[in-house]
Amino acid sequence: MNIIVCKSYDEMSQRAAQMVAAQIKSKPSSVIGLATGSTPEGLYAQLVEMCKNGELSFKDVTTVNLDEYYPINPTNDQSYRYFMNYHLFDHLDIDKANTNVPDGTAADPVAEAHRYEQKITDLGGIDLQILGIGRNGHIGFNEPDQKLMLDTHVTDLTPDTIDANSRFFASANDVPRQALTMGMGSIFKAKSIIIMATGANKKKAVSAMLERTVDTSFPATMLNFHPNVTLICTADVLE
Ligand code: F6R
Repeated sequence: MNIIVCKSYDEMSQRAAQMVAAQIKSKPSSVIGLATGSTPEGLYAQLVEMCKNGELSFKDVTTVNLDEYYPINPTNDQSYRYFMNYHLFDHLDIDKANTNVPDGTAADPVAEAHRYEQKITDLGGIDLQILGIGRNGHIGFNEPDQKLMLDTHVTDLTPDTIDANSRFFASANDVPRQALTMGMGSIFKAKSIIIMATGANKKKAVSAMLERTVDTSFPATMLNFHPNVTLICTADVLE
């Protein structure tokens, strides 16, 4: 795993944006995997800036997001579709038809998970995947468990994740109890991966990942099997 340690959140966001820009410049039709959450907000702001400056174009880019709550409506301001439109897609020259987020309104979530996995396969996999990391080591909504799923699937949120995400909802009771998420195998279809981490509350999860062992109770440790992963983090995560 390559490790880039940054002095600030802004520097971390810039380093990640430079890598995304380099990927898109070298292959304008790149498939970019995206995450939601607080960590990549600065990265998305940088990409919007680059696009506004005319430095970067998303005209031929396709995106696939890691996950979405289930059930949830895209007009709900806590849905991941809403987040992506608000922070990124609405400000880029991207064709919205080429932005993929699992459908939180699908009548049959299992069928939706299959459709989404097939979509990733049909796109030829992901060129560059952006990841955050949960404080319990989750990746997407692949929560600590004895078994981890390979493909996109429906999953129950753990109490820790409901608690961590309740800061965005009126109360913990309003957090949806399920999600649609790419599996570890879908994520591993990415040719390269950037995992971003900031804040002391990510220390435990990141140090488990850097131990160079693999443990399904810290799903991020699986990334040690992938040949092309870059951790971009702020120094507080490693202190
Ligand atoms: C979101 C996602 C999650 C987050 C993780 C960290 O699409 O996949 O795994 O990356 O929960 O969230 P933040 O960045 O809010 O700490």
